[in-house]
Parts: sequence; structure tokens; C-alpha cells
Amino acid sequence: MSEYKLGEVIMPREVIAKRVKELADQIANDLNKQEVLVVGILTGASLFLTDLVREMPEDMDVRIDFMSVSSYMQDTTTSGVVRILHDIKTSIEGKNVLVVEDIIDSGLTLNYLLKLLQSRKPAILKTCVLLDKPSRRKTEVKVDYVGFEIPDEFVVGYGLDYAGKWRHLKDIRNVNVVEI
Ligand code: PRP
Repeated sequence: MSEYKLGEVIMPREVIAKRVKELADQIANDLNKQEVLVVGILTGASLFLTDLVREMPEDMDVRIDFMSVSSYMQDTTTSGVVRILHDIKTSIEGKNVLVVEDIIDSGLTLNYLLKLLQSRKPAILKTCVLLDKPSRRKTEVKVDYVGFEIPDEFVVGYGLDYAGKWRHLKDIRNVNVVEI
């Protein structure tokens, strides 16, 4: 039998906070501080989103909404079908939208969501992910803002979980599998 144990800190809270501030500055600058609807994909992105928006300028019109999705594969290579469990509450037609994710892995979730949101005719649709595992990608996805690129290792904390656990950790850590 194996047990999952918290491993070392691979991204300390200070490093995350500095990068989150840089991302917020860059996003605000690129949007010329115009109104933006920031859409977080539950549950993992919620912690990142709340820090990100609080680093945006106070004189910028920043709105927040969330989507909840349940993803499952129809086949293992190209198509990820995402079931929408909770949708955003308002129309995004003609609006500036920023989709926020904690991590992009195969890219299937974000690819599906972007197609869906694009069909609703936003003025601008941008994406921001905290962690990117490019080596895992199964489909091409346009990611405008990336916090950090990481290798294909199992990480938890700052929103990322193992079986629902460890999302609340302030640092991002890896996980060791111990045989017992
Ligand atoms: C994670 C993450 C993305 C998705 C990325 O969500 O938040 O939504 O997986 O994987 P992909 O690029 O291979 O599609 P998860 O299903 O773990 O839900 P959670 O945010 O509730 O933990």
C-alpha cells in the first residue's frame, strides 16, 4: 500500500506573491485598466484569483465570477468534454474577460472552456494560469499569462489538492509516495 506525504516546498509563498503582483500589473497594463470580468474555475483557482485581483489597481473596474466544471475524457487523446456544473451569472458579450486557472496540464479543460466562452462573443478573452506543465499538453491552448512553468511532478498547496486535501497550504509543495 502507498501513502501520500507532503514533500518539500518547491515554491515558497514569497515567490508566489511576487509573481502574482507582476501578473496583476501586466494584466492591468495590457488592458489599460479597462473593466475586466475575472472568471475563476473552481475549485483550485479560487485562492490564486483572490490574491490576483487584490493586486490590481484600485481605480480599475474589476468584477469577479466563477465557473465550476467537471471534466471527463471521451477518449484519451484529443477530446476533453467538460460538464458545466455552475456557470457565470452575467452575459460576457462585448466584455473583457480573463479566465483564471491554477494549473494547466493536458489543456483539455481550458481548451473546452475557451471555445464555450468565445461563442458568447466577449470583446477580449484572455487566460491566466499560475502553473503550467507544458510537457503534459495534449492540445494547443492560448495562455496569455503564466505564473511558472513546472516539470511533470505532483504538486499541492495554494489551491492545488490531493484528493481534496492541502489546498489551504500557503506554499506549493510536492508530494512523496511512500510504500507502507
Ligand atoms: C484542475 C485544474 C484545471 C484542470 C487542468 O482541475 O484546476 O481545471 O485540472 O487540467 P487539464 O489541463 O488536464 O484539463 P481539477 O479537475 O483538479 O479540479 P479542482 O480545481 O477542483 O481541483
